[in-house]
Amino acid sequence: MSVWAILVAAGRGERLGLDQPKAFAKLGEDPLLAEPLRRLEESDWVDAIVVVAPPAWEEPAILLAEELGAGKVVSVVAGGETRTDSVRAGLAEVRDEAVAVLVHDAARPLVTDDVIGRVLAPLSQGWDGVVPGLAVADTLKRVGDGGAVVETVPRDGLWAVQTPQAFPADVLRRAYEGDAEATDCAALVEGRGGRVTVVEGDARLLKITTPADLERVASWL
Ligand code: CTP
Ligand code: MG
Repeated sequence: MSVWAILVAAGRGERLGLDQPKAFAKLGEDPLLAEPLRRLEESDWVDAIVVVAPPAWEEPAILLAEELGAGKVVSVVAGGETRTDSVRAGLAEVRDEAVAVLVHDAARPLVTDDVIGRVLAPLSQGWDGVVPGLAVADTLKRVGDGGAVVETVPRDGLWAVQTPQAFPADVLRRAYEGDAEATDCAALVEGRGGRVTVVEGDARLLKITTPADLERVASWL
């Protein structure tokens, strides 16, 4: 089966607050984008990669892929205004030969072969989507305006969900046909009645949002 990976890297990184987009922030020696790109390239599970770059940053992304010798990169395209638009742009580059599609946030640089294997495995059992997640350990509270606690939310059965997320290619294409918006791909599949399952994620798949996250992930390199 042919597995295509869409690496979404088109966000502005407003909460990181640098002059360049988050994908080109320095993580260790290299631009952040280099780390997940190298890892997807080296994964035996992945046959082809589509990089979704920040608008006007396609050229630096192509050069980076060349520098890394990332021969699995089939296409580099510009992303859109929202993550959903960016995934849609990437999906348009995925060829018909793809059987399964992985969608991964570049902002989670430390993707491993183990987690890729874990999300791909249940697809052969007929699931419409597979997401990595971590059971929520902290107590959850809903907080209203002014900082007052409204309620304590039972955390039973609540998972914090990460990427890479895996889907049969036809299921993901159908999920992106409309113009619905969601913060992850699985939500669009669920919205069409698809059955999505959760597998164990990885604490090191932390999404880099703030400068402190960038430092923490850099310390794990
Ligand atoms: N993303 C994208 N296109 C967008 C928005 C987000 O490809 N229009 C990608 C980001 O590059 C990132 C992932 O989706 O890899 C998760 O998004 P997030 O962490 O929110 O990144 P940013 O949107 O860049 O950050 P911020 O919200 O702070 O601006
Ligand atoms: Mg964002």
